[in-house]
Amino acid sequence: NNRRPIVAGNWKMNGNLALIKQVEELFSDADISHVDVVVCPPFPYLGGFNDSNFALGGQNISHYESGAHTGETAVSMLKEMNCQYVILGHSERRADNNESNELVADKVELALAHKLIPLFCIGEPEDIRESGQLFDFIAAQIDAVINKVGIAAFNDIVIAYEPIWAIGTGKTASPEQAQEVHAFIRQHLAKQDSNIANQCVILYGGSVKGSNAVELFSQPDVDGGLIGGASLNPEDFLSICLAAK
Ligand code: G3H
Repeated sequence: NNRRPIVAGNWKMNGNLALIKQVEELFSDADISHVDVVVCPPFPYLGGFNDSNFALGGQNISHYESGAHTGETAVSMLKEMNCQYVILGHSERRADNNESNELVADKVELALAHKLIPLFCIGEPEDIRESGQLFDFIAAQIDAVINKVGIAAFNDIVIAYEPIWAIGTGKTASPEQAQEVHAFIRQHLAKQDSNIANQCVILYGGSVKGSNAVELFSQPDVDGGLIGGASLNPEDFLSICLAAK
């Protein structure tokens, strides 16, 4: 395939100005030309990056364009702060903020309208996997977005598969488990359009570290990673970026 790998760091509600400096310094000397690297810090820190050789992303947007929505962040603001990406539908937001498949689809539509690349997150809780509903669950998450923006929009959407039981738990999906679901996602898209399915970048997330990244990224349908905890350690994050094929 000719899919260009992506490694995105999701700082979640972590990090500080000192970490920005450390990451920028370490990466300035690194050859990351084989991979698109993205850092998604908390909103207040977006303006603190000014010497980066990687892209920036937000961790969320409001589904409103602007207006009286205290505490929310508009898509246009991320654009103005030089973001190229935005994480949407992360399982933590689905859980903490009751984000439904439909709301996530609305946000994907808004991000695309403003030419931000959605890092569209999907993934199942452990009980869904154990009860044999894994593929139906994942398909429903994807279908909500296809129904909203159409399959062609997946030319401009990056999918991040993150099994919830693997997030922040140290319990990584095995490379085979990741590959199985990534292949399913691609087949599911291919039912609508096989070219789009073939070019869509699908990232794996959930306890990716420098020590397991090579094996995960060597799977045929794993095109990179969405990295939480390990993205807070600049050396570890860089080694994950270098592991992207
Ligand atoms: O967005 C990142 C994921 O939730 C993965 O987090 O690498 O800390 O498990 P983690």
